[in-house]
Amino acid sequence: MAKDTITVTDNVTGKSIELPICHGTHGPGAVDIGVFFKEFGYVTFDPGFVSTASCRSAITYIDGDKGQLLYRGYPIEQLAEKSSFLEVAYLMLYGELPQQPELDGFLGNIVRHTMINESLKGFYQGFYHDAHPMAIMVGVVGSLSAFYHDSTDIRNPEHREIAAHRLIAKMPTIAAACYKHSIGEPFVYPQNKLGYCGNLLNMMFSVPCEEYEVDPIAQKALDMIFILHADHEQNASTSTIRLAGSSAANPFACVASGIAALWGPAHGGANEAVLHMLDQIGDVKNIPKFLEKAKDKNDPFRLMGFGHRIYKNFDPRATLIRKMCHEVLAKLGDENDPLFELALKLEEVALQDDYFKQRKLYPNVDFYSGIIYKVLGIPTNMFTVMFAIARTVGWVSQWMEMIGDPDQRIARPRQLYEGAAMRDYVDMNKRS
Ligand code: SDX
Repeated sequence: MAKDTITVTDNVTGKSIELPICHGTHGPGAVDIGVFFKEFGYVTFDPGFVSTASCRSAITYIDGDKGQLLYRGYPIEQLAEKSSFLEVAYLMLYGELPQQPELDGFLGNIVRHTMINESLKGFYQGFYHDAHPMAIMVGVVGSLSAFYHDSTDIRNPEHREIAAHRLIAKMPTIAAACYKHSIGEPFVYPQNKLGYCGNLLNMMFSVPCEEYEVDPIAQKALDMIFILHADHEQNASTSTIRLAGSSAANPFACVASGIAALWGPAHGGANEAVLHMLDQIGDVKNIPKFLEKAKDKNDPFRLMGFGHRIYKNFDPRATLIRKMCHEVLAKLGDENDPLFELALKLEEVALQDDYFKQRKLYPNVDFYSGIIYKVLGIPTNMFTVMFAIARTVGWVSQWMEMIGDPDQRIARPRQLYEGAAMRDYVDMNKRS
C-alpha cells in the first residue's frame, strides 16, 4: 500500500521527524511509531489502547460507525444466514471458504479430536460442584499441554495446525463436562455422528438412562450464535492470547489465558451479567431507576450488554441475535417471555435516553445471547463458557496468524513511571 507520512515535532527540542502512515484494506491508517523512542526518547501513552493498533491482521474487520463486521471480508449477516460454525472456522483459519472436499477433510479432522484424555476426568473431581465453570475451563484447557508433547513445537506449522484443531474440537467436550460436574451427572462421550453443536447439546443434556434427541432448532440457533461469537479483532481476550503467544508459550496455555480474560464482566462475562441485571431489574416499572443508576458516576452499576469500544452504532451481532430470540422463543419458548419483554423495553428506553445517545451506547452481542441460552436450557453460569467455545476459533486463528508472521517478536509494552524517585535503603532502627 502507498506510504504517506505524518510529521511529529518535539517543541521542546525543535526536532521533527516524518513517520510513515500504513494503509490497510479497510479502516483507519496506522502511524508506524516504531522509531519514536529512539528518535525522541519518549514512549507513547495510550491506556486501554484506544488509539493503538497492536498488530497487522487479515482475519476480522469491524466498522464501528457503520455497525459492520467482516470475517475474512465476508459480512457477518451473510455468514450467519448461509454458513455453518465449522465452515466459518475453516474460513477463519485458512482465509478462504473451503471447497467441499476441503470442508469434509476439516470436519473429519475436528471430529477425530473431540475426546479428552480419560485421566482429565480426575481433574474435574478436584473442583467443588459449585465451582464456576469458567474456573474449571481455565484449569482444564491449560492442562491440555500436559498431554500433547507431540505438538507443542510452535515453530512447526503441522504442530500449530493440530493444536488448533485439537482446541476447537475439545472445547465442547471440556465445557459439557464442566456442566455435568456441576450437576453431579456422568460425563457423556462425544458422538461424532452428531454435528458440532448437536454433539455439545448431547454431551450436556443426554443421560445414560434415556434416549436424547437433539432439537434441530436448538442446534441451528447455537450454530449461528457461535458464528457471531467466533472472532472480533483485537478484543481483550484475543489480545491476551497474542501477548501470551508472543513469548512462544504453547497454544493450550495461551487459550487458557484467553479464557481467563474473557471471563471478566466487562468482556465475555457480560452475557451472564446481563441475566443477573435483568433479574435485578425484575419489572419494566423499575427500568427508570436502573437507568439512573447506570448514569450515576458514583454508582458502580453499568447497563450490562450495552456499549462497546468500537461499535458506535448497533452491534450487528446483537441485531441478528435479537431477531433469533423471536424465532427461538416462538418455537421453543414463550414468545411473551417476561425476560425478553423486559430486555426489549430496556433497550427501547435506553436508546431514547440522552445519556446513552450522546455516548453512542447500543446493545452489544451480550445483551440478548443469554435469553437464547436460557431457552435452550443452558444455565447462566455456562453462558461465558459458550462464548469461550465459539471464540476459540478466533483465538487460535489469531494465534496462528501471529506465530506465522516472520516479523513476530515478544510483546513488551513500556510504561509511564510515577513511583518514588530513587532513594537509599533505611535500616529498621532509623525508620520513622
Ligand atoms: C464484549 O472488544 C470487543 O470486541 C469485545 C466483544 C467481543 O466480541 O470480543 O465485543 C465482546 O466484551 C462486548 C462488551 C460486553 N461488556 C458489557 O456489556 C459491559 C458493559 N459495557 C461497558 O463496561 C463498556 O461499554 C465497555 C467495557 C464495553 C466499553 O468500555 P470503553 O470503551 O472503555 O468505554 P468507556 O467505559 O470509556 O465508556 C464511555 C462512556 C463513559 O461515560 P463518561 O465517562 O464519558 O461520562 O460511556 C459510559 C462510561 O461511563 N458507559 C456506560 C456503559 N458503557 C459505557 N454507562 C453505563 N452503562 C454502560 N454499559
